[in-house]
Amino acid sequence: METHPRSAASENPVDVRIRSLIAQHQRGHSLAQAFYSDPGIYVRDIEDIFFKHWLCVGHETRIPNPGDYFVHEIAGESLIVVRGRDGEIRTLANVCRHRGSQVCYEAEGNAKVFICPYHAWSYELDGRLRNTRFADVSFDKSKYSLATLQTRIVQGLILVSFAENPPKLSHAEQVLSASLGRHGWANARMAHREIYSVDANWKLAVENYYECYHCGPAHPEFARHHATEKPNVEVAALREQVRARAKQMGVEIPDAFHWPWPAAPDQESVDCFHDATYPGSVTGSEDGGPIAPLMGDFNEYHGGFTYADLGPSSFFLAYSDYGVMYLFIPRDVQTTDMEIVWLVNGDAREGIDYDRKKLTWMWDVTSIADKRIIDHNQRGVNSRFYRPGPYHEMEILPAEFTKWYLQQIDPSRQR
Ligand code: FES
Ligand SMILES: [Fe+2]
Repeated sequence: METHPRSAASENPVDVRIRSLIAQHQRGHSLAQAFYSDPGIYVRDIEDIFFKHWLCVGHETRIPNPGDYFVHEIAGESLIVVRGRDGEIRTLANVCRHRGSQVCYEAEGNAKVFICPYHAWSYELDGRLRNTRFADVSFDKSKYSLATLQTRIVQGLILVSFAENPPKLSHAEQVLSASLGRHGWANARMAHREIYSVDANWKLAVENYYECYHCGPAHPEFARHHATEKPNVEVAALREQVRARAKQMGVEIPDAFHWPWPAAPDQESVDCFHDATYPGSVTGSEDGGPIAPLMGDFNEYHGGFTYADLGPSSFFLAYSDYGVMYLFIPRDVQTTDMEIVWLVNGDAREGIDYDRKKLTWMWDVTSIADKRIIDHNQRGVNSRFYRPGPYHEMEILPAEFTKWYLQQIDPSRQR
């Protein structure tokens, strides 16, 4: 990783480039090409955004038993997310304290200890060095634990931060408890997981997720059932009806709009929005009909579902009967994985209470279509003919995201 000298005399060329691009940026327009293609700016994105915020890496039911682990790769780093003997989930850097080899080669599994395949140093599940082959007896093992990242579980979500002092989560916890908590996510279970890799910069993927201007043309399957595909004025009355029904049922979910701008400067950004399915549809299934056992506080369908989002790259969608986690994972400047996790009620049995194919249908077709449009978006943006264009009013969130993004990577900003 490059360093960030801040003195004018020796200004880093990436800083100079970013400053000039920010000066040229036209408000309400998409970003200049370099933000989606410049490797130096990508490194800055990772340092100033991904390594400073909270990132969701999965649902805790992916590793239900002591010793269960999975490796989460992000932006060139490799992390072991493991449930300890004490039941606690920890995140360890997958970097041996001997000579730096990756300790864990497997993508997931169950371990009693982690043994580095290179020279067989072994580590406890909490990262403490356990044994070193032929090592000096005076060797102080306690100084050679695997590095540990801050890890928090919120409504079943595993949140990890690379930062020593990450944003506070207290506000996000309240918002997620009032939304995903009500949808029963803390007692949910991972039913399926899939990765859709897009050939695009992570910001194009996030911008795409955060607008539904494209839903009509790109997602007829989604647009058939979800009011998100229309401008607010056209569906405001329907939204009101659905919210009133939820209130009557005692399952109201309050909106919170603090994404990407957090509620306070020291808090992580979070938002929550309760939306409507069209009359005749109750969930995100092929025909809009029920698909799995109801979750959380929902004892019947009311025609609504909830969006909730956290930090730069973790997005959630909760229906009455299933949930979707949408995680954006940058791989390099123009490669991003979209990891999608489907959740069901913790007691729901596959093949009896739900059919996995039917459960995953909507967000599979939608994600395949998204990959197609995001890939083509990047190809167009890479052209010599690309110029930033105006966001539509249905793209208010990508416009806000762009504004926020430029502020985060502005070299004039205090880090
Ligand atoms: S690098 Fe891990 S034991 Fe040598
Ligand atoms: Fe989409």
